[in-house]
Amino acid sequence: MAQTKKFYLTTPIYYANSRPHVGSAYTTIVCDVIARYKRMCGYEVAYLTGTDEHGVNIERAAEKLGIHPAELVDRNQKVFRELWTLLGIQHTHFIRTTSTEHARAVQTLVRRTLKRSPQAIYKAKYEGRYCIHDNLYVSDSPESADCQICGRPAELISEENYFFRLSAFQDRLLALYRDRPEWVQPEFRLNEVKSFVEAGLKDVSISRKSIKWGIPWPDDPQHVFYVWYDALTSYMSGIGFGAGTDGEANPEFKLLWPADLHMIGKEIIRFHAVYWPAFLMAAELPLPEKIFAHGWLLFEQEKMSKSKGNIAYPEPIVKAFDELTGASVGNDALRYYLLREVVFGQDGNFSRDALITRYNADLANGLGNLASRVLAMIESYFESHVPEPTSDTSITKFVSAPLESIAREHYDAYRFSSAVQDIWRLIAQVDAYLVQEQPWKIAADPAHRPRLREVLYSAAEALRIITALAHPVLPDATQQIWRCLGQPGKLADFQLDSLVWGGLKAGTRIAKPESVYPRVESAKLDERIEAMDNEIRNPGAPVGVPAGTGSAETSGAPAAAGAEKITIDDFAKVELRVGVVKSAERIPKADKLLKVLVDIGDEVRQVLAGIATSYAPEDLVGRKVVVVTNLAPRKMRGLESNGMLLAASAGAEGKPVLCTFAEEIAPGSKVK
Ligand code: MSP
Repeated sequence: MAQTKKFYLTTPIYYANSRPHVGSAYTTIVCDVIARYKRMCGYEVAYLTGTDEHGVNIERAAEKLGIHPAELVDRNQKVFRELWTLLGIQHTHFIRTTSTEHARAVQTLVRRTLKRSPQAIYKAKYEGRYCIHDNLYVSDSPESADCQICGRPAELISEENYFFRLSAFQDRLLALYRDRPEWVQPEFRLNEVKSFVEAGLKDVSISRKSIKWGIPWPDDPQHVFYVWYDALTSYMSGIGFGAGTDGEANPEFKLLWPADLHMIGKEIIRFHAVYWPAFLMAAELPLPEKIFAHGWLLFEQEKMSKSKGNIAYPEPIVKAFDELTGASVGNDALRYYLLREVVFGQDGNFSRDALITRYNADLANGLGNLASRVLAMIESYFESHVPEPTSDTSITKFVSAPLESIAREHYDAYRFSSAVQDIWRLIAQVDAYLVQEQPWKIAADPAHRPRLREVLYSAAEALRIITALAHPVLPDATQQIWRCLGQPGKLADFQLDSLVWGGLKAGTRIAKPESVYPRVESAKLDERIEAMDNEIRNPGAPVGVPAGTGSAETSGAPAAAGAEKITIDDFAKVELRVGVVKSAERIPKADKLLKVLVDIGDEVRQVLAGIATSYAPEDLVGRKVVVVTNLAPRKMRGLESNGMLLAASAGAEGKPVLCTFAEEIAPGSKVK
């Protein structure tokens, strides 16, 4: 048994004001791969994640909903926890920044800092711009600025804050980057950080008086901690800082700190590689061993955003794969795609098409097919027992390296796509070996029995090695293959150092896997994921109905006269404008939908309308229509629909009849 070494890694603490999407899940999935890999390398792994639950945004969102912020964050953090369970994430710690242990840790850290570096924190006047309508700090400078939400001029706010003297840490930070050049990775990120610090550092405000939803400053409760001082401390509060009998740390913290790795997205590097080490230096605490900033995941080459309606969520992917294949493969499919497709550290693209193609090509046809074939042949030709190998080592002519060390260097350096490529190269080599040796042919001839034994032993042993090496990325199917290969226990507990050729014992009883990565029909799966994504983006909207006009959204039945009444304010929420159709075209494979470009005065919008059964595209150009302009965008058939055309719904079939104007009217005019 390898000696136990500890490895403490963290994801960022997720803002609890929005739902996690594929991009946010990316950090957590990557950390899960690292955690599983490190465990298989003999490390005792502590893996922390959690939710960042303070701040103005949460306060504001709760106010809008008419609930207390505590209720809101309580609700939202559950969504994160449930998602991590669905994705099979094996974190060991989950910290909420509204917990009492976290508050105690933040207060302990500031007290310790005041004791050890009294100059590091001081009180001074803060001047910034604040939007009273949106309760938002718009800028940290007194110069005039407009609110990015409502566009109104933000007010000058001037209040006393606690400041952290970041400016005093410039030299020590530069020395850190110089002496430990691997401290920030990838290397090009270190260069960005260095240039930022070399340009001179401003002190940062770490408290606010005008916010209530935060951790009170010790002995000065009018102030609450502001954003990053609070959030970053979660890496320590989550493992017991501030909870020990000596007032500072419990034994777990002493064992685990400093963290071995903070995994973060590139946009928060400054806080982790500049603020955080300075906060720790001032408190005389050890610095984390490494900060790794990964790139962003784009959706079809664009930044995911609510307003663009192009956010991809993990749940639909996992659930739709499982549903359509009847097997638990969704998790593996998503993980494989993210790890294989994105060169870790750089930005990557998320595309459903590529996700499904990779699944069918690499998982179903690749690993799944190899496992099924090899095990089925052993079942048929050797009555389900691993054959005794001969001294012939023909497989070595096909594989390029000592099998068991394949991928490991890449995993160690967080080059996941290269690690996966290595493993898949090996799968291809074993496939080529089988094609060359043709065990299904030689099986008929008893004279070839020794060769058959050798070939199937070698293929099964290579499969065992492939399975173990792929486990951190593909935890579900590899466990099944492992069991089918007659290997005892959980593959997660297997130690990669003991993975050597010959480990598969002749005579071991094997089983045929039930279904490793069944193939999936791309179009069906794509449609199902899209429908489930739309349901999350637009809860309550009918799923799978070609929406886009009033008529398609409702049935053809006459409107109920006695329907529930709404107030004029309710009605005013719907923004209606006159639009003029600029162009219209059919959408391939969609019988009811037309893609319509409509001029609404200050912009031309793309709307997908379910009117193709009533209107020919060419008849629509120049027509005046009524457009709902403030409807959340949604995607259909891979295209974005940004609004809705109003139409009556005629007859029993609900034939759409567009609302239009008899008089001249300019596009963009309000309809009310
Ligand atoms: N609350 C802060 C972190 C405090 S850590 C002390 C925060 N939260 S976040 O919810 O906005 O982001 C959490 C993680 O998700 C970050 O690592 C961020 O980079 C990652 N991602 C969010 N969207 C992303 C993509 N589209 N692509 C990849 N990762 C991105 O920042």
